[in-house]
Amino acid sequence: AADSVATSDFLTLQRYIMLTSKDQELAVLLSALSLACKATARACNKAGIALLFGLAGETNATGDDQKKLDVLSNDIFINTLTNSGTCAVLVSEENEEPIIIDPAHAGRFCVAFDPLDGSSNIDCNVSTGTIFGVYERISTGFATVDDILRTGNDLIVAGYCMYGAATELVITFKNQGVHRFTLDPSLGEFIHTHSNVTFPEDGGKKIYSCNEGNSSNWDPAIKASVEYFKAGSKPYAARYVGSMVSDVHRTILYGGIYLYPADAKSKNGKLRVLYEGFPMAMIVEQAGGVASCGLFKGTIQRLLDLVPTSIHEKCPVILGGERDVKLVLSKYKELG
Ligand code: AHG
Ligand code: MN
Ligand code: MN
Ligand code: MN
Repeated sequence: AADSVATSDFLTLQRYIMLTSKDQELAVLLSALSLACKATARACNKAGIALLFGLAGETNATGDDQKKLDVLSNDIFINTLTNSGTCAVLVSEENEEPIIIDPAHAGRFCVAFDPLDGSSNIDCNVSTGTIFGVYERISTGFATVDDILRTGNDLIVAGYCMYGAATELVITFKNQGVHRFTLDPSLGEFIHTHSNVTFPEDGGKKIYSCNEGNSSNWDPAIKASVEYFKAGSKPYAARYVGSMVSDVHRTILYGGIYLYPADAKSKNGKLRVLYEGFPMAMIVEQAGGVASCGLFKGTIQRLLDLVPTSIHEKCPVILGGERDVKLVLSKYKELG
């Protein structure tokens, strides 16, 4: 009933932020982020008609072939965030170096973002997303990269936008739970649909989600965990979109586990700490789930405790409900 009240009440993201935060600068930042998500949604919707599919011709800092839409969405985010006057440092998957905004136009916030997540799916019309994490700067004067090279525990806001059947923004403020907003395209507004989103209490659906094509290179604990999920007369279902945003969104709402572990070829995994690992880990924990790197650099690491030393650093990602992530961690204790 609360949901239908919220919907018929047309609680827009804008009004929600003004009601819940007295911080005007943060409200301006979030309206810039939501504008950039809307512009990216529109670009994805029109891509086939506007001839925006295909490669841009360059590779980014982590070696990905950039799509035209990676570049376009990145331009959209950089423009809106820079012009909002609320940011001091921007880190994007698509920019080799951090962008330091000069003090005359800078604000209090540092944003790390993946402008288009799952861009390998874009040309076949499968869901993509945007991921972002927000810090408050510590320096004064010219900001530095150290304002953003910080543990995930310092994040003040994390969110993702999913460009799926609907465009949906999922956001969390520190210790305020996870909230869902759906874009009404005819209004051009994100409308609040769900408060305090949590993983299903009992662990939910038995689903495991990973790129099993990499399994021959996995370590013994990940291999054993996935074998466990598949064993018996009622095995887990396999679901893998290949867009982190979509796979994590489903994992939160339906339950189960999402893994992009390290393997013999990629010792740190594939996903990037600042703009994929951290924001998703914060959302998952705020929704009552667990986000871990598994056994990484000699210890079992909670993902948000990492301290990155470079902006495109990668880490293994294991996240989901307690039932399933605990199983993987117990396999690490058993098998190393
Ligand atoms: P991006 O499109 O932002 O570069 O991210 C790609 C990531 C993530 O979205 C997805 O979960 C993962 O790469 C898929 O990797 P595989 O193709 O190796 O499964
Ligand atoms: Mn990429
Ligand atoms: Mn990504
Ligand atoms: Mn991306």
